[in-house]
Amino acid sequence: MVLVIGVDTSCDDTSVAVVDVSSHQVLSNVRYTQAVHEIFGGVVPEFASRYHLEILPKLWAKALKEAGMDEKDMDYFAVTASPGLIGSLVVGLNFVKAMAAVYNKKFYIVDHLFAHAWIGTWTKSFTYPALFLVVSGGHTELYYMNKLGDFELLAKTRDDAAGELIDKVGREYGLGYPAGPEVDKIVMNRWQNGLSVKPYPLPKVDYSSFSFSGWKTRAIYNLKKFLSDTTGDVDIDEKRCEELHVLMDSVAEQLLSRVEYWLEKKNVECVVIGGGVAASSYIRKRFEEFGNRRCLKVSFTPRKFCPDNGAMVAAAVEYALTFGSRPWVDFGDYFSDAASHSVFLR
Ligand code: KG4
Ligand code: ZN
Repeated sequence: MVLVIGVDTSCDDTSVAVVDVSSHQVLSNVRYTQAVHEIFGGVVPEFASRYHLEILPKLWAKALKEAGMDEKDMDYFAVTASPGLIGSLVVGLNFVKAMAAVYNKKFYIVDHLFAHAWIGTWTKSFTYPALFLVVSGGHTELYYMNKLGDFELLAKTRDDAAGELIDKVGREYGLGYPAGPEVDKIVMNRWQNGLSVKPYPLPKVDYSSFSFSGWKTRAIYNLKKFLSDTTGDVDIDEKRCEELHVLMDSVAEQLLSRVEYWLEKKNVECVVIGGGVAASSYIRKRFEEFGNRRCLKVSFTPRKFCPDNGAMVAAAVEYALTFGSRPWVDFGDYFSDAASHSVFLR
């Protein structure tokens, strides 16, 4: 057994997990989603940090209790330190650093995006070479893995992330924050009733980029247009749902277009999908259909490991233990020269 306790406080979820990285067994994975942000329709960084500060020690204890262990049983501690909200990251980082000092444990700093991607290698059907799509509220990135551990960045968003688009449009359409799960329900309902829509045209950017911000303007403009209808012929609720369906369908189309392009260029047979938006049933359906059509293996990160979670942070330590170095792709340069007493993933 190689036991790791992993912490994620990068945004508005506080999460701690205990994982045996040698057997890929998640012994506990506790998460608290901060509801406070709902009233503001988006994450308020100052509140996020304060809640992490209050909740993290409790979740730390809970995760250990659920795993039936204590700090001394752990081989390593792990924490994500970038990317994310700086005030929130600092809470997690300093907490784990202090715990590591108290219990005299080595701790790993894990890149958040790397963690979202790496947990995908733990899915049952994963084989490489593979494409890794990470779709979340803060990021939309596509990686290629030629052999285990070798990541190459193929495409990333130029502006908004896919989840950010859905949340921002959802807020304008009167949904709560985050809007993703609610939009997904609306769209699945329409899809199950056999309704289909025509997606927005794809943005005019190259295949190394995603771009979602133009669609935000478009969806909000369309909302204003049908809300200002004075003929009385428009069923506003129906129109709202239809437009959200178009939006989600367009997101699926853009993600699939990049996957399709790189699939041929790189000649892969497996696509792994992770990140908060990968919990969407509609996105999963569309990828499943695509996989069946193309005889391609689509490996979905289990839903509980799609949104930000401590298990993926702990899981990423497997990489450092196996390869003894940073991932091949530099997942950022934020903490690259951090304190020398620790071992860093990057
Ligand atoms: O990975 P994540 O928890 O946080 C970031 O690293 O950003 O992703 C959060 C995003 C939000 O935009 C949220 O609306 C979206 O994931 N999301 C979903 C679903 N669950 C969460 N989007 C669509 N369908 C869902 N079921
Ligand atoms: Zn994330």
